[in-house]
Amino acid sequence: MSANVVAIDGPAGSGKSTVAKAVATELGWSFLDTGAMYRAVTVAAYRYGVDLSDGDAMGLLARTVEIETLPRVAINGDDIEEEIRSAATNVGVSVVAATRKVREALVDRQREWAERQPEGTVVEGRDITTVVFPDARLKVFLTASLEERARRRNEEGEDSIARRDAADASRVVSPLRQAEDAIVIDTTGRSVEDVVKEIVECLKSHTSN
Ligand code: DC
Repeated sequence: MSANVVAIDGPAGSGKSTVAKAVATELGWSFLDTGAMYRAVTVAAYRYGVDLSDGDAMGLLARTVEIETLPRVAINGDDIEEEIRSAATNVGVSVVAATRKVREALVDRQREWAERQPEGTVVEGRDITTVVFPDARLKVFLTASLEERARRRNEEGEDSIARRDAADASRVVSPLRQAEDAIVIDTTGRSVEDVVKEIVECLKSHTSN
């Protein structure tokens, strides 16, 4: 794997998106929110009437639907930035993310995307350090207390976050887990700038070794 990648995993509300975006800006690299891709496939299934429990149909949808994540999330040109955060999407996405054929399709798309980035890319999700880019230049696992994570995702609530965490960590396909060689950063009570600085310094020291 030749892509220049910083891979970041962690549970909902651990600060992944904010930190990953800021690290990408600091490095002049691109950024990919893979959770937004799973959410986009979920919204696409609702819109186009695909049964979430039909693995083959969901896999085909994940391979073929056009997905943009920046500047706003869109499927086949339709803006779904608000819809991807709805309560219905929060529920459906756990089912979608546990579907093997969906994961295979999105992992392929994430790797192809990274290969096309001229400088490098910061990618965040749940299986980025373990499955998608096990050879990333740097692997980071972010954590934070449940209380703090719920505060950051205040529209979602502690129960929903705890439910998604349990589903993400216990599913058979690519469960959320810490890669052995990932650096672990607890972001509870820490500023974004501080965490970003730690990651960029780690990347520099990894690269010079
Ligand atoms: O990061 P997020 O909360 O937007 O992610 C939405 C869901 O997608 C999350 O509950 C787990 C799943 N997900 C995943 O299984 N693998 C990824 N690489 C990213 C997200």
